[in-house]
Amino acid sequence: MVKVNALITDRMQSDVAIIPALADHLIAAGGKRLRPLITVAAARLAGATDDNGLKLAAAVEFIHTATLLHDDVVDGSQLRRGKVAAHLIWGGAQSVLVGDFLFARAFELMVETGSMKALEILARASRVIAEGEVLQLTRSHDLNLSQELYIEIIAAKTAELFAAAAEAGAVSAGVESVKTAALRAYGMNLGLAFQLVDDALDYGGTTESLGKNAGDDFREGKATLPLLLAIARSGAKEADFWERTVGRREQTDADFARVRELMIGTGAIEATLDLAADYAEAAKAALKGFPANDWRDALEQLADFSVSRRA
Ligand code: IPE
Ligand code: IPE
Ligand code: MG
Ligand code: MG
Repeated sequence: MVKVNALITDRMQSDVAIIPALADHLIAAGGKRLRPLITVAAARLAGATDDNGLKLAAAVEFIHTATLLHDDVVDGSQLRRGKVAAHLIWGGAQSVLVGDFLFARAFELMVETGSMKALEILARASRVIAEGEVLQLTRSHDLNLSQELYIEIIAAKTAELFAAAAEAGAVSAGVESVKTAALRAYGMNLGLAFQLVDDALDYGGTTESLGKNAGDDFREGKATLPLLLAIARSGAKEADFWERTVGRREQTDADFARVRELMIGTGAIEATLDLAADYAEAAKAALKGFPANDWRDALEQLADFSVSRRA
């Protein structure tokens, strides 16, 4: 990971000074680096003995970073990784274009590996993420959104990159396709767990530990599973409250506190976390064909972390 971070710093450079300045604002703020960790560990678990996977790991983090820049513009979010969101400092246009720059850097790194297979996996992931974000945008205020479509959205906007991160790691080790598929399944399940927990934390977490504003999803009226469950379970007596706050997005400061109570009272948060735990178990189960070693341990711990995390 030290080498991956060095690659990231090296490749975010540009002669156009605003690009590294804006990129560094986000990249130096930290982030958990979960996706590149998965690529590196998946490559090692699949038997890699060289550093071929490192460029792919850096590419994966660049794709993630690019989507964060774009996502914060789309969502109008004010805080990211504990810092003021880049678009509030440099503007939306700069933020979107630096996101494009980071996407392009990711593709340069992939091409350097010479692996058409890795390029195919990460190009598809980039396309699917965009589809997921657009799909979410068109359905975000639909209070009748089915759980099925919600899962489809989070699979695309989030889990696909975790799946691609693990699969690309396996590919860099040159293993046969059954192991590649197993690692992809691991990443997909972990990614679903990760976003479910993210959506629960948006109601149950704190701004301080998250480094992004708790309550953003509610303010946006984003139809995430905790909200869909709370609406379904709170019954007709709350229908007017939901119609005003989420349907018409007319909210007062007191409303979010009320929503937190409803989330806990209806068990909506708990049910969301339970579903996340199921996906994390499925992620670990996908690894059972691999030898029990430190790399498998690490991947299993990442699955557990994605459910127990508070940040
Ligand atoms: C944030 O991902 C975007 C989601 C998919 C919810 P992370 O929580 O992994 O973001 P960083 O990289 O650690 O900041
Ligand atoms: C995360 O979407 C997925 C991507 C960034 C592509 P969210 O909008 O749910 O994530 P946060 O809460 O802003 O991190
Ligand atoms: Mg967002
Ligand atoms: Mg979120």
